[in-house]
Amino acid sequence: MLTLNKTAGVFKPSKRKIYEFLRSFNFHPGTLFLHKIVLGIETSCDDTAAAVVDETGNVLGEAIHSQTEVHLKTGGIIPPVAQQLHRENIQRIVQEALSASSISPSDLSAIATTIKPGLALSLGVGLSFSLQLVGQLKKPFIPIHHMEAHALTIRLTNKVEFPFLVLLISGGHCLLALVQGVSDFLLLGKSLDIAPGDMLDKVARRLSLIKHPECSTMSGGKAIEHLARQGNRFHFDIIPPLQRAKNCDFSFAGIQHLMNKIIIQKEKEEGIEQGQILSSAADIAAAVQHTTACHIVKRTHRAILFCKQRDLLPQNNAVLVASGGVASNFYIRRALEVLTNATQCTLLCPPPRLCTDNGIMIA
Ligand code: KG4
Ligand code: ZN
Repeated sequence: MLTLNKTAGVFKPSKRKIYEFLRSFNFHPGTLFLHKIVLGIETSCDDTAAAVVDETGNVLGEAIHSQTEVHLKTGGIIPPVAQQLHRENIQRIVQEALSASSISPSDLSAIATTIKPGLALSLGVGLSFSLQLVGQLKKPFIPIHHMEAHALTIRLTNKVEFPFLVLLISGGHCLLALVQGVSDFLLLGKSLDIAPGDMLDKVARRLSLIKHPECSTMSGGKAIEHLARQGNRFHFDIIPPLQRAKNCDFSFAGIQHLMNKIIIQKEKEEGIEQGQILSSAADIAAAVQHTTACHIVKRTHRAILFCKQRDLLPQNNAVLVASGGVASNFYIRRALEVLTNATQCTLLCPPPRLCTDNGIMIA
């Protein structure tokens, strides 16, 4: 029998005690009181993340180890380095998520792990760790598609009905899809070359923002957003790509190339070497952020019009979900909000910490 501690009129039983208490009753499985509890594990890129979530979406515990600082120093993700860091941290991160949840491993209902897409060496660490755990604990294994997890995260924080349009913009991916069900996606457009986060990371690297005192520990995209606030986007006149393409595809390699040319030109004008911070770095950051936002908004506008014309989305109050690391950018969110207001749609974005890779979305 569970006794609840009553101290100064406030009692706060631990989550573990609550679960023990609920289990002591002989309820039928699936009733409100017997939650299924899933451990989610994510290692597809450069974050080792784990979370324990119940079937109603309550996050019981979470932990994450970001490799950003290491990869910033080496000038990009080196897959064997990412693999080694995942190996060094996965046990601790899973343990931390479980401890924070006060759930014992034997009480888990299943283990869910990202199996694709991502860096093969990184994915492998999460997968082999999970399969070992699954074998030890004799629990079911749920293979998770990383992009589906990003797309569905919004259902954890908002009540969103199918169908909705999703824009996934991250360091490794860029796509627009109509989400018709939990694993029913209609791909409308994707990047023809690199992802927007990859492009922003490369521009930030070329600007040597790691040496900037305000940005040294930030990912490239975050550093660009931070610096852009102090810059003037109108100092450079850049035309976004694919102006005439009658589809919903994206392209970011051209923007990167153009920014490179601008940086070389500015280095000449300011008489400085590559590796030093340009006095015009903030203006360049503002310009690349603005061009990225314009391009993303134009392609998304086409997808909204296409879906409405074909009655794939409701004419009023259709939902656009934006997620992925780049969707944590407030300038890009604001630009998408202007678009959704003009097209009678609603923009929903998970909070920034759920936009970037995490264990919660997998669980
Ligand atoms: O979703 P995510 O954590 O990992 C992938 O699946 O790629 O996204 C990471 C990417 C990086 O390229 C990073 O520079 C970018 O998201 N990013 C941002 C911001 N925060 C992270 N890009 C623009 N603005 C931000 N605030
Ligand atoms: Zn991701």
